[in-house]
Amino acid sequence: NKGKYEHYMQKEIHEQPDSLTTTMRGRLIRGGSCKAKSVLLGGLKDHLKTIRRSRRIVFIGCGTSYNAALAARPILEELSGIPVTLEIASDLLDRQGPIYREDTTVFVSQSGETADTLQALEYALENGALCVGITNTVGSAIARTTHCGVHINAGCEIGVASTKAYTSQIVVMAMLALAIGDDTISSQTRREAIIDGLFDLPSKLKEVLKLDEEMKDLARLLIAEQSLLVFGRGYNYATALEGALKVKEVALMHSEGILAGEMKHGPLALVDETLPIVVVATRDACFSKQQSVIHQLHARKGRLIVMCTKGDAASVCVGGSCRVIEVPQVEDCLQPVINIVPLQLLAYHLTVLRGHNVDQPRNLAKSVTTQ
Ligand code: UD1
Ligand code: M6R
Repeated sequence: NKGKYEHYMQKEIHEQPDSLTTTMRGRLIRGGSCKAKSVLLGGLKDHLKTIRRSRRIVFIGCGTSYNAALAARPILEELSGIPVTLEIASDLLDRQGPIYREDTTVFVSQSGETADTLQALEYALENGALCVGITNTVGSAIARTTHCGVHINAGCEIGVASTKAYTSQIVVMAMLALAIGDDTISSQTRREAIIDGLFDLPSKLKEVLKLDEEMKDLARLLIAEQSLLVFGRGYNYATALEGALKVKEVALMHSEGILAGEMKHGPLALVDETLPIVVVATRDACFSKQQSVIHQLHARKGRLIVMCTKGDAASVCVGGSCRVIEVPQVEDCLQPVINIVPLQLLAYHLTVLRGHNVDQPRNLAKSVTTQ
């Protein structure tokens, strides 16, 4: 049932304040006079000791689920102190990459049925690793086959393009980081700030959804383009990859997410006055580096669309020559949850304007159950 919406993708984008609320329901503890704010993941509580003792945490997934793990990696590394690596399921299988008994492997999948992810799970089980699932579908193959896990509880996702599952996956992985991390005094302030940030996230998501009309205008401007580049780094490298994936798979427009730190190692050659480029430059530790990227793209006459923190338009837009998307600020590690939304909206409107099938893009299936 699409309710008042024309497409499932549109409905699922706009549902995110609610899906995030259900993802967090019963799992965040507000704290009190003598109790610290904390996180409770029922499905993991008996396994946290083993996870904390592991030598490495390996996230495994495909497509959007892989991107969600990429978004969460920095906070997992920071709070757990354990090395975190990422694997695209098919690539791990192609290489028969090393997985050890001392590893915690985490399988991220909306459907819980993706063939490559499931096969990688069987491979990790054979190698003796602890296998954790992060799935949206209760009773799915991955949920049943993992030793333990967390349901993201985002509600049924029907559009082939994953939207609300992505934001819920990141939130679950941020909660996982809080659950694994110790509660040493030194990290207490940071942990509390993230928990407060999680409580605030649904209302910030409502706020960013107000950019809907603005993104429709931007889609009108980009309707006939052949290609769109998206630059990001740090917490928002994932935003670049995921934004480009959305544009590619539904709007059928070539789009590439680029790690901004790699700009001079190749991508800069593409820049001219015609190719549109989105640069994600919201406030975090990488902000000044992104400002310098914007300057360099501007010097090559790049056609820039800059995503920045509300109020920062003047400090990111050199000479007032670029288009700006201003988004609300949240705790840095949660910012990817907010920043992806304008790009989801852009991909949606581009698809409708270009006359393509939104919910079932050509050649794609919601759940890739064959290899
Ligand atoms: C569980 C209940 C929820 C109830 C809550 C109250 C289910 C599905 N969930 O939620 O309805 O409101 O207790 O205490 O009944 N698991 C895997 N792999 C996965 C995902 C989950 O093995 O990929 C396992 C977990 O380890 C856990 C079980 O499935 O044993 C349920 O997981 P989850 O729904 O995340 O647990 P709770 O949030 O505690
Ligand atoms: O169900 P899964 O999360 O395992 O699916 C993984 C990918 O097939 C999926 O995310 C795909 O990339 C989406 N269509 C992206 O929107």
